[in-house]
Amino acid sequence: MAATGAAVGLGNIWKFPYLTGIHGGSAFVLVYILCVAALGIPMMMAEVMLGRRGRQTPINSMRTLAAENNASQGWQLIGWAGTLAGMLILSYYSVIGGWTIGYIVHSATGSFSGLSGDGASTLFGEFVGNPWIQVTWHTLFMIITMYIVARGVQSGLEKAVVFLMPALFVLLLILVGYAMTTGYFMKGLTFLFTPDFSHFSGTSMLTAMGQAFFSLSLGMGTIMIYGSYVPKGTSIASTSIMIAVADTGVALIAGMAIFPIVFANALEPGAGPSLIFETIPVAFGNMSGGMLFGTLFFVLLLVAAWTSSISLIEPAVTLMIENFNMTRKQAAVWTGLATWLLGFGTAFSFNIWSEVKVFDMTFFDHLDFLTSNLMLPLGGISIAIFAGWLMTKETSKAELDMNSEVGYSIWQVLIRYIAPIAVSIVLLHAIGIF
Ligand code: PFF
Repeated sequence: MAATGAAVGLGNIWKFPYLTGIHGGSAFVLVYILCVAALGIPMMMAEVMLGRRGRQTPINSMRTLAAENNASQGWQLIGWAGTLAGMLILSYYSVIGGWTIGYIVHSATGSFSGLSGDGASTLFGEFVGNPWIQVTWHTLFMIITMYIVARGVQSGLEKAVVFLMPALFVLLLILVGYAMTTGYFMKGLTFLFTPDFSHFSGTSMLTAMGQAFFSLSLGMGTIMIYGSYVPKGTSIASTSIMIAVADTGVALIAGMAIFPIVFANALEPGAGPSLIFETIPVAFGNMSGGMLFGTLFFVLLLVAAWTSSISLIEPAVTLMIENFNMTRKQAAVWTGLATWLLGFGTAFSFNIWSEVKVFDMTFFDHLDFLTSNLMLPLGGISIAIFAGWLMTKETSKAELDMNSEVGYSIWQVLIRYIAPIAVSIVLLHAIGIF
């Protein structure tokens, strides 16, 4: 449940729909699902397994495991890179988390009532166009995240997740119910599920793969931390499959809620990061009880963002505590400050720096590309190689403890050959090598 709470976040409800919109719909969805099944699940099993065996933070676990398997201490790099990736991701994740806070206020004060598609775009444009509003909500989001981390009260939040995440799911279903009344529900479904590769490119492929890593929180070692709490006797395979199915289910349902609203209001499916903030308010603004449901929706989305944020920063915090001799409070303050400052780059990417582009990409675009499309897949390949090739078969077999011999063989093939080769091909293709 805790790992599902960390996996389900803005990635599912904010990022998946807008990436799907930009990359033309169904083909992206299909490739995404394939990536989750063929790469995501075996890699999640590998990360959980390494975590359970290493039983420490990612960096220290990798050190122990490398020694145990006579491998180079260089493998610790997986932990370091993952720790850095977590902070980089959180710096922008927090800005989007800030949008969620802003939208709680908008919803609770009635800004959505009777809103049209155009009205929603204007509302978002004004909101995001003001750099100081961006900085304010980003700051609040970071303060609360770091407060929870500093106090070490994550377990309380994790307990709450057990009923808050199903509640978020119910609200998504209410949105799907609204989407059904727009008259464009079938159009939305067709967009999502009838394969059409006309808008699909090498970059789309890389993005779909990166999103699979991002959404499942893979390739940076966080799942190892969860793995270190998994007791012996719990099936790593079924747990991993369950997390992947729940995570993908939430993303697909978010898509089913959003695209009918996009088409019904003549909005642009490829609008980008603003997509859910231009569609969901229309739905809540035009349904009865929308003010209550809308506020609740953004509150729950915020909670989902917090649980993910904590697992993004926790590796950096534990690193400071274990390797740099800091107290938890000090570690939270320093890592939080650095991440907060970096977040300004993203907060300004949507207003005063929106025209500051390198290779036609804003600061936010670069940060997102670097982390989701490069760092996480590279981390994933390294983890796959370590788990598949450097760990002995006896060890991985004993750790995974699968009842089916065939299941273990499938995992072996996926983790040793398919994952490293497929990820490498997609990466090389995207940078134009072939
Ligand atoms: N999986 C989270 C989401 O979909 O929003 C993002 C994330 C959280 C990625 C934690 C990585 C991580 F370690």
